[in-house]
Amino acid sequence: MRRAKNVHPASPRSLREAAARLRRGELVAFPTETVYGLGANALDPKAVAKIFEAKGRPADNPVIVHVSDMKMLRRVARDVPPRARALIAHFWPGPLTLVLSKKSLVPSLVTAGLDTVAVRMPPGLARELVRLAGVPIAAPSANVSGRPSPTTAAHVAEDFRDVYVLDGGPTKHGLESTVLALEPRPAILRQGALSEESLRKAIAGLGGGATSQRRAPAGGPSRRAPAASPGTKYTHYAPSRPLTLFLRKSSLIAYAKAHPRALVLCPTGFSSLFPKQRILPLGDTPEDIARALFAALRTRRRGTELLALAIPRRGIGRAVMDRLTRAATRIVP
Ligand code: TXA
Ligand code: MG
Repeated sequence: MRRAKNVHPASPRSLREAAARLRRGELVAFPTETVYGLGANALDPKAVAKIFEAKGRPADNPVIVHVSDMKMLRRVARDVPPRARALIAHFWPGPLTLVLSKKSLVPSLVTAGLDTVAVRMPPGLARELVRLAGVPIAAPSANVSGRPSPTTAAHVAEDFRDVYVLDGGPTKHGLESTVLALEPRPAILRQGALSEESLRKAIAGLGGGATSQRRAPAGGPSRRAPAASPGTKYTHYAPSRPLTLFLRKSSLIAYAKAHPRALVLCPTGFSSLFPKQRILPLGDTPEDIARALFAALRTRRRGTELLALAIPRRGIGRAVMDRLTRAATRIVP
């Protein structure tokens, strides 16, 4: 496929150009190890407003702030408690987002009026971009609100034709970061690329107590008090066609037989179970499936509907199932 004209391969030069644009208050899309982000200077309310406008993002959904070092973290977080410091030592740079108390100079648009700010330090190219920009970068996933998160520059270009996009190839994890609140006790607000098991282990090592999962109400926006992680209450990751999630292989096989024009998303090893079907193989390990999932939800391949199979809710499988469940039009036991 030809590269869209707003997509620029990552190079020292395009990185400098992207950083300059960020400093000027413009939007830049860039690859992280999780998904592509749509970034703006987190300290400039006008720049951050452009993110919400471009995505059509509801104003009550706060965005994650990306930092390149601890000094920058302290510009946005009022306090970095010992437990946060220990987790940072363990997992940063990496796919862990921490919810911390915010400093007042962080615009309220970034945090949707909350007195906390969600922060993370991505590795590699993203970190280098933030460092070059010299300011913390607010960045949600670089998709139009409600669409699957982008794992390639081409996905970003599908959703945004005018934004400067840095192309760093397909992202490593393919799913967003894990969002963790620390107060009053550690609680996962959104499952993500860092597994709950790894987090629990690290937190247990700190004598920090259990990690619970706080659940926001599913379905459409609720009018109740702000949810713990506001984003999780919105419909997300919607594919262009109906998607049915099957919890059992036998029910998927039976349904697929009766619907030969459907496109089946399944582990590569299961392809032979669907001899007469269009198949979109996702790979073999849960990590492969995580990496392939969002691209599969954006597929342009033929098929009247999409059929997907559940995977065990272990490791990154939890985050995969979280996204599949949100993307699904219906779920068949
Ligand atoms: O991997 C990722 O996290 C990617 C890359 C670009 O870093 N970003 C991302 O951002 O997924 P976004 O905006 O699509 O999701 C941010 C999530 C939302 O569920 C939002 O509600 C939650 O983090 N969040 C942000 N600030 C929060 C806060 N102060 N308290 C609780 N949840 C917060
Ligand atoms: Mg998102």
